[in-house]
Amino acid sequence: MDTSVAHPARRYDYWLGGKDNFAADRESGDAIAAAFPAIRTAVVENRAFMRRVVRVLAEQYDIRQFLDIGTGIPTSPNVHEVAQGTAPDARVVYVDNDPIVLAHARALLTSSPQGATAYVDADLRDPARILADPALRATVDLGKPVALILVAVVHFLPDEDRPYEIVRTLLDALAPGSFLVMSHATTDGLAPELAAQIQSGRHGPGKLRNRAEFGRFLEGLELLEPGIVSVSDWRAQDELDPRPGFNEVAVWGAVGRKTSG
Ligand SMILES: C[S@@+](CC[C@H](N)C(=O)[O-])C[C@H]1O[C@@H](n2cnc3c(N)ncnc32)[C@H](O)[C@@H]1O
Repeated sequence: MDTSVAHPARRYDYWLGGKDNFAADRESGDAIAAAFPAIRTAVVENRAFMRRVVRVLAEQYDIRQFLDIGTGIPTSPNVHEVAQGTAPDARVVYVDNDPIVLAHARALLTSSPQGATAYVDADLRDPARILADPALRATVDLGKPVALILVAVVHFLPDEDRPYEIVRTLLDALAPGSFLVMSHATTDGLAPELAAQIQSGRHGPGKLRNRAEFGRFLEGLELLEPGIVSVSDWRAQDELDPRPGFNEVAVWGAVGRKTSG
């Protein structure tokens, strides 16, 4: 593990107030926070979006299987804790490519006895490898609906990594009735200098995408209400008011349902 270079999982952990980060992560995190002071609001809102969506899918759509790619350093409640809070038999596969997340995977493997969790050390850029993984196959039945969770991860893939093809490959492997849960940092609403700084590669590879570019990931899916919105506004009626403005979050969120094979 190279601790001299900032890593997304550790930088995110720093913003969330966690302890699993190093000087390089904090420096990178502080540089982004200096240019975009709302970053901590953004990460907290992104995490809250994930929790609300998982609860809604378990409670209202009977989803019992979750594939969470780009899991991050465990931050309770994680997907399985939320899902199993509603449905103790929920089964969750976590995937991340960062060794520090692997090192903390035990915190993700605390399933209820009725359900199951698994951790797969793999890269989103190799979706075939993820889908073929024996631990994934032993944990979820791809013949039944799965919620694919790509929350705050696809913006780490520049266009050269072909992110649209990757998401399509994953969705193609899922049964009708499955869902794509996605959030993605955006340039929309950001000052151009900040967008340029983030896009410069100084903070690692990736691409902020605008609303239309985000929407392309969900093409062909039936969008759940309220469609593509700030993560802070997705079915947030029970959250504290006032909700943060879009430019305090700058993360699009949406949930789409796969209706046909
Ligand atoms: C910003 S964190 C998001 C964590 C969690 N999904 C959330 O929203 O709270 C991004 C995570 O994606 C992981 N990640 C980045 N690129 C990845 C890739 N190519 N394959 C798998 N995981 C990746 C990072 O290691 C990090 O843990």
